[in-house]
Amino acid sequence: MNHGSSSERIAAALRDDIRALPSGSALPATRALTLRFGAGPVTVQQAVRTLVREGLVETRPGAGTFVRRPMASPPADYTWQTAALGPLRAEGAFVGSTMQTPPVEVIGLHSGYPADELLPARAVQTALARAARSRSALDRPPASGLPELRAWFADELAHSGTQRAAAEQSTGGAVLTVAAPSAGDVTIMPGGQSALSSVFRALGRPGDAIIMESPGYWGAIAAARQAGLVIVPVPRDGAAVDPVVLAEAFERSRARLFYAMPHFANPTGGSWSPGEADRILAVVRENGAFLIEDDWAHDFALDLPVRPLAARDAGGHVVYVRSLTKSVSPAVRIAAVVARGPARSRIQTDRVVDGLYVSGVLQTAALEVVGAPSWPGHLRRMREQLRLRRDSLVALIDELLPAGTLTAVPQGGLNLWLRLPAGVEAPEFVARAAEAGVLVSPGDEWFPAEPTGGFVRLNYSGPDPSRFGEGVRILAATLDRLVR
Ligand SMILES: Cc1ncc(COP(=O)(O)O)c(C=O)c1O
Repeated sequence: MNHGSSSERIAAALRDDIRALPSGSALPATRALTLRFGAGPVTVQQAVRTLVREGLVETRPGAGTFVRRPMASPPADYTWQTAALGPLRAEGAFVGSTMQTPPVEVIGLHSGYPADELLPARAVQTALARAARSRSALDRPPASGLPELRAWFADELAHSGTQRAAAEQSTGGAVLTVAAPSAGDVTIMPGGQSALSSVFRALGRPGDAIIMESPGYWGAIAAARQAGLVIVPVPRDGAAVDPVVLAEAFERSRARLFYAMPHFANPTGGSWSPGEADRILAVVRENGAFLIEDDWAHDFALDLPVRPLAARDAGGHVVYVRSLTKSVSPAVRIAAVVARGPARSRIQTDRVVDGLYVSGVLQTAALEVVGAPSWPGHLRRMREQLRLRRDSLVALIDELLPAGTLTAVPQGGLNLWLRLPAGVEAPEFVARAAEAGVLVSPGDEWFPAEPTGGFVRLNYSGPDPSRFGEGVRILAATLDRLVR
């Protein structure tokens, strides 16, 4: 008898039966199957073994054969990759928990992206539709970006802060005129994160030191590690790093790069005063180094104007990064790096090698939004909303959390930085709060080395402000349980 082909015929018929049966149903006994298919018991058992191998049924000795709960495809075996990949390239590399997308019922105070109502939604949609119908949907833009968009970023930088700050710099009493940044100094990037990665790769070599404020932006920490740089942390507990500590860090590490957020630092919210900025810039110059200035919150200046250091840097020491992701739309990934001299050409080369050029559709749409007469009015209204959100969250924290939890009221940006009571570990607090339906960002992710205490970051731009009260009450109850 040809067991092979008749067992396959039986298996095929049983597969059809199984599809119609709920899991756990018993298959008829072997004797019943031999009668139904007119086959011997060996052939029937061979067919059943095929179905067992396929995971469709299981045999329970003494009980019979049963339809199995449908299993998702069996887990693939990737263990070979462990040997193929070898050690991690960037020791301690991770993706910040700010990137989680929680379900709607969760109160998401963890993320960094402003809510829709803070964005110029209609202007963005109109601009994208128009760009899609224009030549920019088909053309390859110049590698460094559209000339008009580069000019817009240069002009913004030249006119940021006071005219005096933009036009002059004082050095030992002498007043020097600073050439305004030009469109040629600007490279368009697909977002601020990409800009940081390019700058770190272009200006550093694997193994080089980079000084960073601690705490600081997790994405910059991750990008520096990915570029193979060794992070040298300098503390930034108060408003600015101490120029003396910074000078020592330069001397000890021989670093030529210093990444910083002079205005509304993420996560602490602190800003350097103009005097502090001058002293820090002097240390950078004395050490023949670059200051990579991440002006991430330029559009979120609430009570204090932003005067980028790059606007008063004549010698090419400041490499300036500005992104439109959070103020135009997270879907319009456009940022710029402003740099001068050979540093600019190295950054432009890195950009081309990494991605050739940035989509012209996005560049055209971004330029239409920020170049429109309605843009300044939108920014004013958005800042007004952000002030209300910040003040409401600050008031709730003052009312419901222990005194001293809020480290400072930031004069711009999107975040509050909280210090947890002694003995409370941020990861545990964050996990318990998440179980109770509130997401916050654990402070540990914002330190390039060991955290100096239990901290968490709360973002006031994303979640619905009508749920701030509920969120802070949950945080207060969570803290209460951990302190007791
Ligand atoms: C301080 C800081 N720099 C850079 C970025 C990255 O900007 P983008 O969203 O444009 O990639 C972020 C994003 O959260 C940020 O917080």
